[in-house]
Amino acid sequence: MTIHIGARAGDIAETVLMPGDPLRARWAAQTFLEGAKCVNEVRGMLGFTGTWKGNPVTIQGSGMGMPSLSIYANELMSEYGAQTLIRIGSCGGMQPHVQIRDVIIAMTASSLSTPSHGVFRELNFAPCADYDLLEAAVQAARRKDVRHHVGGIYSSDVFYDERPDLNEMMVRHGILGVEMEAAELYNLAARHKRRALAVLTVSDHLQTGEALPAREREQSFGEMVEIALEAAFAGT
Ligand code: HPA
Repeated sequence: MTIHIGARAGDIAETVLMPGDPLRARWAAQTFLEGAKCVNEVRGMLGFTGTWKGNPVTIQGSGMGMPSLSIYANELMSEYGAQTLIRIGSCGGMQPHVQIRDVIIAMTASSLSTPSHGVFRELNFAPCADYDLLEAAVQAARRKDVRHHVGGIYSSDVFYDERPDLNEMMVRHGILGVEMEAAELYNLAARHKRRALAVLTVSDHLQTGEALPAREREQSFGEMVEIALEAAFAGT
């Protein structure tokens, strides 16, 4: 047990998928894992462990935003020995060629700041995905014929943004989408020498104002979970 995770040692798999929403963690575990059992209920941030094609997998909610994700990712890495952590979540599209329902596989995550800012101080560290996971996710998306994009994303500290100029700057520099967690996951994976990736579904679009209807979110979310699982166990 840790401060925020009630699971016993050994109840958490080396491979952890991390959706922001704990109810999505439950849905994904019930839909994709065999023998899934709930291993964490502390603060309602549900976590489940089961198997996928015989491989142990934990799906643990991260909560919204980098400070919340940082708590769970730190404890998963330091206390439970998680080796491969894949964020699965939604993002806002930021480029005209990125459409609602598309999947974004995040090569890098830019930010104004992350919880690691105090650690890096003057260093402008570049948070990036694990290359093997990234490549395997791209191959999985191709095999499944899922529309996808690979590139940089923006991990923002705010959903309700009062600074449209920041989004414009990201758009001008080719950033594909905005979410609120990946940069710190990549920072922590680098610090702890673990593998990390973020696979995201475009749920809304900042330029067109479109948003994915609730009913359709589930199907797009399912493709993303499968891509993450196939990437985690590619070559095993
Ligand atoms: N902004 C930040 N995070 C998000 C968004 C957004 O528009 N959509 C999904 N996650």
